[in-house]
Amino acid sequence: MYNSKIIGLGKYVPDNIVKNEDLSAFMETNNEWIVERTGIEERRWIDPKTGDTTAVMGAKASRIAIERAGLTVNDIDFIVFATLSPDMYFPGCGVQVQEMLGMPTIGALDVRNQCSGFIYGLSVADQFIKTGMYKNILVIGAENHSGGLDKTTRGRNVSVIFGDGAGAAVLSRTDDNSKGILSTHLHSEGQHAKELVLEGPSTQRWVPEILEANDPNDESYYPYMNGQFVFKHAITRFSEVIMEGLAANNMTKEDINLLVPHQANLRISQFIQKKFKLEDDQVYNNIMRYGNTTAASIIIALTEAWEEGKVKEGDNIVLAAFGSGFTWASAVIKW
Ligand code: UT7
Repeated sequence: MYNSKIIGLGKYVPDNIVKNEDLSAFMETNNEWIVERTGIEERRWIDPKTGDTTAVMGAKASRIAIERAGLTVNDIDFIVFATLSPDMYFPGCGVQVQEMLGMPTIGALDVRNQCSGFIYGLSVADQFIKTGMYKNILVIGAENHSGGLDKTTRGRNVSVIFGDGAGAAVLSRTDDNSKGILSTHLHSEGQHAKELVLEGPSTQRWVPEILEANDPNDESYYPYMNGQFVFKHAITRFSEVIMEGLAANNMTKEDINLLVPHQANLRISQFIQKKFKLEDDQVYNNIMRYGNTTAASIIIALTEAWEEGKVKEGDNIVLAAFGSGFTWASAVIKW
């Protein structure tokens, strides 16, 4: 049986830094509240003049990942693109990347699993490689949140949290079974779909209906989050799915070299760190600089950790995510 291994990582974040203080110019919020509740100090928001979009940022991160993998775009067999903020309702961003990078007419799959999207995408790519169907797969996570947030006081509990950016990984076939993606575990619980949701426009609430209602208080086309409810579920599910991944590989928490959690809230990461009795250098966090970038968060964090030399050959790396759906997931990787 084939095995799969990450052989290239890349990230791209917009240049435009929005500090907590900057947000106070258009909503009632303050640096202390944001830092205390979330750990976030600044985030990147696209400057529309630059031409960056979810697909464009995904393509920029991908170029770096492919180059670092020592491959060219012609070596990639398949694209998996995870995002909740695509450039268009349809088609998805995957086909845009195929075109932007000038790739052959390979398949492109879009994944819609929000904060768990990158791990879901990685899992799909892992299966395609392990069955022998494809050799090199580009897995992308990218978000343009700033294009769709309610940037008034009404939306402050959500809009101060989210940031823009993209990351990409090249997953490749290897015959070495001692390294690579050891396991992925995926979960969902749709009964809580509306606790973290953006409802419209959608087929259940289409544009003419919204226009006809002409309701200035209509918030359905902005993200809604029941923050404390999501928080409580997040800490439980993060722990469960990490344990599940470790158990499947006959590992214990002592075997973790580096945990890269989805960057939802620094308090969640700290809770998990304490629960698993991990040292500061065993958990990688960058939410302070980027906020929550949803499907991009884990792959941006993993790329930065690797760039900083914190991901070493032979290390056991654990990725874990929880978010809208609810969906949650983990991946255990022997680097
Ligand atoms: O990535 C997907 C998964 N997401 C998560 O896991 C996120 C989980 N949830 C959270 O991280 C936290 O619930 C939040 C950071 C979203 C919110 O923190 P919280 O401690 O749960 O605050 P809260 O929503 O209960 O709001 C507390 C107070 C409220 O005021 P009152 O009612 O106590 O007077 C809010 O109106 O804070 C107020 N508030 C703000 N104040 C200043 C809400 N947002 C802001 C803000 N600035 N941006």
